[in-house]
Amino acid sequence: MSLMNTYTLENGVKIPVLGFGTWQTPAGKVATDAVLAALDAGFTHIDTAEMYGNEKSIGQAVKASGIARSDLFITSKLDNQAHTYELATQALDRSLSDLQTDYLDLFLIHWPNPKAFRDHDWEKHLQETWRALEDAYTAGKVKAIGVSNFKPKHFEVLKKTQKIQPMVDQIRICPGDVDRLTIDYCQQHDILLEAYSPFGTGQIFANETLKALAQKKKRSVAQLCLRWSLQHGYLPLPKSVHPARIKENTEVFDFELTESEMQQIDALKGVAGFATDPDTADF
Ligand SMILES: NC(=O)c1ccc[n+]([C@@H]2O[C@H](COP(=O)([O-])OP(=O)(O)OC[C@H]3O[C@@H](n4cnc5c(N)ncnc54)[C@H](OP(=O)(O)O)[C@@H]3O)[C@@H](O)[C@H]2O)c1
Repeated sequence: MSLMNTYTLENGVKIPVLGFGTWQTPAGKVATDAVLAALDAGFTHIDTAEMYGNEKSIGQAVKASGIARSDLFITSKLDNQAHTYELATQALDRSLSDLQTDYLDLFLIHWPNPKAFRDHDWEKHLQETWRALEDAYTAGKVKAIGVSNFKPKHFEVLKKTQKIQPMVDQIRICPGDVDRLTIDYCQQHDILLEAYSPFGTGQIFANETLKALAQKKKRSVAQLCLRWSLQHGYLPLPKSVHPARIKENTEVFDFELTESEMQQIDALKGVAGFATDPDTADF
């Protein structure tokens, strides 16, 4: 496997196995420099969202890189305030314009049950929103559509009205935080799992088990976490704004974890906290 390897989504679209995360990467020079460093290190897959506030900077970096659009895989996600058909359609157009592109490779519903709609028929809003994504897909504005932070119950809501099943679920997966029920559901339904916060948003690095194992393997804890995720068949999305770390995070294809090393990592519980509950989150 290498950085050029891809998974194949249910509709045949190829998606690079490692993506570059950009949450909490401030818009402006920090974001453009980080994306340019990621492209330079060989990343071809960039993950952003309207709610990250950095799509314009990412679009500028992609333009400045001179890399052909067709050689890149760009994902964005829907604003939590936009869970109606019209608002979702407008939000996608905004992302396309900010990213200076006429299509996205993947567009996701960021959150199944945002606070703004929770007490206002959220299920109907979710179904309507999904219909907007299906129509955008049919119109060719997006090459693939999916969701994020969905649990089986949210998929069941979509199922009542969907014409197209989500192709991706982007959820928090890192050593110690593995939502078995959701993972099993996605694997049974041919929904690719993208693993966000593969380092528990930086909380994983203090873990002694991982530190010892990293030392034994002559690798960093970051590389160990990414390798563990890839060997499980997930698509990890590491974020960094430091070029040396960005490069380090791509160097995960020239070593392997043994079955017992995988099991040692699988046995960790809560070492970097747990995902926010999508049905009670304060946003
Ligand atoms: N769909 C969702 O709801 C959702 C939620 C969260 C995240 N995501 C996506 O997943 C991506 C990753 O998740 P995340 O941002 O929560 O965090 P993460 O990738 O788990 O961890 C990022 C943290 O680790 C540090 N770091 C990165 N590489 C390192 C290395 N090699 N050595 C030491 N430290 C390193 C970074 O610091 P520096 O930047 O200072 O290097 C940052 O503090 C996001 O950026 C976003 O694209 C999606």
